[in-house]
Amino acid sequence: QAGTLNIVVGSHVWLEDKDLAWIDGEVFRIEGQNAHVRTTNGKTVTASISNIHPKDTEVLSDGIDDMTRLSYLHEPGVLDNLAVRYAKNIIYTYTGNILIAINPFQSLPHIAEPSTMEKYRGANFGELDPHVFALADVSYRQMMNEGKSNSILVSGESGAGKTETTKLLMRYLAFLGGRSKTGGRTVEQQVLESNPVLEAFGNAKTVRNNNSSRFGKFVEIQFDQSGKISGAAIRTYLLERSRVCQINSPERNYHCFYFLCSAPPEDIKRYKLGDPSSFHYLNQSSCIKVDGMSDAEEYLATRSAMNTVGITEQEQEATFRVVAAVLHLGNLNFVKGRDADSSVLKDEKAKFHLNAAAELLMCDREKLENALIKRKINTPEGVITTTVDPNSATVSRDGLAKQIYCRLFDWLVNRLNASIGQDAHSARLIGVLDIYGFESFKTNSFEQLCINFTNEKLQQHFNQNVFKMEQEEYNREQIDWSYIEFVDNQDVLDLIERKPGGIIALLDEACMFPKCTHESFSQKLYEKFKNNKRFSKPKLSRTAFTIQHYAGEVTYQSDHFLDKNRDYVVGEHEELLNASKCSFVSGLFPSVPEENTKSSKSSIANRFKV
Ligand SMILES: Nc1ncnc2c1ncn2[C@@H]1O[C@H](COP(=O)(O)OP(=O)(O)O)[C@@H](O)[C@H]1O
Ligand SMILES: [Mg+2]
Repeated sequence: QAGTLNIVVGSHVWLEDKDLAWIDGEVFRIEGQNAHVRTTNGKTVTASISNIHPKDTEVLSDGIDDMTRLSYLHEPGVLDNLAVRYAKNIIYTYTGNILIAINPFQSLPHIAEPSTMEKYRGANFGELDPHVFALADVSYRQMMNEGKSNSILVSGESGAGKTETTKLLMRYLAFLGGRSKTGGRTVEQQVLESNPVLEAFGNAKTVRNNNSSRFGKFVEIQFDQSGKISGAAIRTYLLERSRVCQINSPERNYHCFYFLCSAPPEDIKRYKLGDPSSFHYLNQSSCIKVDGMSDAEEYLATRSAMNTVGITEQEQEATFRVVAAVLHLGNLNFVKGRDADSSVLKDEKAKFHLNAAAELLMCDREKLENALIKRKINTPEGVITTTVDPNSATVSRDGLAKQIYCRLFDWLVNRLNASIGQDAHSARLIGVLDIYGFESFKTNSFEQLCINFTNEKLQQHFNQNVFKMEQEEYNREQIDWSYIEFVDNQDVLDLIERKPGGIIALLDEACMFPKCTHESFSQKLYEKFKNNKRFSKPKLSRTAFTIQHYAGEVTYQSDHFLDKNRDYVVGEHEELLNASKCSFVSGLFPSVPEENTKSSKSSIANRFKV
């Protein structure tokens, strides 16, 4: 609120506008607590002086490259400065030692040219225009001079440009720490070339982003004493598994499914594929094609990227065989069988897909069918086998498909790491964290809660490191007027992760009781958090709940929370695939010693906490 007292007739000010967010104008009369303002778009508006903000009239044509030097550090001032710069294709702006990057949604070649990299190498921070390379350069030099490892955290909403920024960071670090080429591929090339592979299997079109990463990623670049890259490791965090079986318009499933359906004819034939819209896992959404993306070309590009990173032809063949099998699994429809609570394949079409899936997974057709329509139950008298109804068979089918796909993704990440090679003795490293951005859609489910929880954690880390640190510095320098106000989000974190009693703990509890439903889970939340400032119950719902996040309010539909949080491999599925004649497939499902199976049942939400 700095400066509100100085508002007089003739002041240039910002005021809130319901369409434009903020609009500027000039005060022409003051009456008590109200100011009358003539806006630049020709309206006269009356507003309370406490709601208007002074406007800096000396705006440079390129704005100000470090927001800490703005005359007025308030929301309209910050936004206006970013807008002025953005209009000139200047996408980077500093706020102290933080870089703000705005998505240009167009290719700006000068940003990443080799000559630009050359320019930023070794330049003092702040000497040149703000750039993501400047940030990477500081972190590299700090690492070299002080022998300290560093991490660069990229955060922002979904679609903000995190992954693209991460790629630029890696490219620059590869430029700084690259070796001269000696025959084979260098570590840095391998790291960069692993991106298309990860994206083909872990990215999808969402509402916000045509190429949205559906997994978190931490890339560790390792350096030797002399500052050359000596190894790298990619760690990924929980791929969004529900997407494999369930998508809504206008989103898509993982890219690789569509790429494969557009493969050359001999591959289509080998994998018994057809039009993507003939597969249940793809046709739940009306979106099959993405503007500006050729699935056929991308298929070949993915294959070639796999070659580059050293994934063998055999491994590639097996990978796509598994991808195709997942599609066929999705088309297994069941109807009621003769006995009560039993099911059979619906028709010839379902039988065709069963055959195809079994053939591709190289497992027994009948055993595959039985793994879905029968269930083994332990009783005091021994193991008995029962049949299940079509609904349960379908749930089992989807569970199998998700499990296969997630194991495949994890295998790919491990395989990429094996070919890139880690340096176990590396002296220091730079880590780049690219995590799923904050999401708030029309309908939000369990995935959004996990993603937004992760972002709350990052936000707190950011608060602690930036605001609290800055404030201490002000204290040290005895500047007492500039207490920075920031909203502490510890209360949201408590609401979600407190043990016992937080939302995740209550969800885990609900998942342990077979009788618990999403209704009873929601009732429990309403009761428990009725006085929590960050939690509310939407008026017309009995199962939704709203959390007041640091980045805004999000309402979650709890309908599938319980299923989605449960994540254990069905014994029958594991047995079936472990027995596959294809060593690749059986390798995805190694046999687990009996006594270990129980302890591995950790819920999804819980794994987000670590
Ligand atoms: N620096 C950039 N230059 C050009 N286009 C960009 C840039 N950053 C983002 N984009 C565009 O925006 C899209 C979304 O960016 P992405 O990095 O995937 O977002 P996020 O990872 O934050 O969800 C990209 O697919 C690309 O089209
Ligand atoms: Mg991303």
